[in-house]
Amino acid sequence: MSESPLVGILMGSASDWPECMRHAAETLEAFGVSHEARVLSAHRTPAETLAYASGAAARGLEALICGAGGAAHLAGVVAAHTLLPVLGVPIQSPALGGLDSLLSTVQMPGGIPVATFGIGKAGAVNAALFAVGLLGASRPELRERLVEYRKQRAEKVLQASLA
Ligand code: RP5
Repeated sequence: MSESPLVGILMGSASDWPECMRHAAETLEAFGVSHEARVLSAHRTPAETLAYASGAAARGLEALICGAGGAAHLAGVVAAHTLLPVLGVPIQSPALGGLDSLLSTVQMPGGIPVATFGIGKAGAVNAALFAVGLLGASRPELRERLVEYRKQRAEKVLQASLA
């Protein structure tokens, strides 16, 4: 998107993109929300992660979605360096099915919050929808799109035919 990004999507590895984090990006695209996606790792690129998080608000970003797997500390580290809302997405890990990622992301000690979503694709989609909701607080057109989105999903449920 050419507009300056409102939402930053971060992930600890490019391997987090195809199955999980791309769904956050696609959801934001469907709502017309400008965003950027970066691979930044709390442990592999700590200096770059710090620089991104501490400069994000000044660049006009309003929410950061962070996906990481395993001992997943990306969202927590990012939250430590920004006052922007940080939305954590636990990646489904091969070893423990994402339970490790979930607990690492959700169990922040009190004081530095990370709003944590479900493991994998559903979490990525919901984090993006949550970001749309946050942005919608001051953007009526986004609220309207959320109303329409829910209406369409309700219609789909009601129209479902069982074979
Ligand atoms: C984490 O380690 C990443 O978020 C990823 O989920 C996991 C595995 O990374 P790769 O070994 O696939 O690069 O930092």
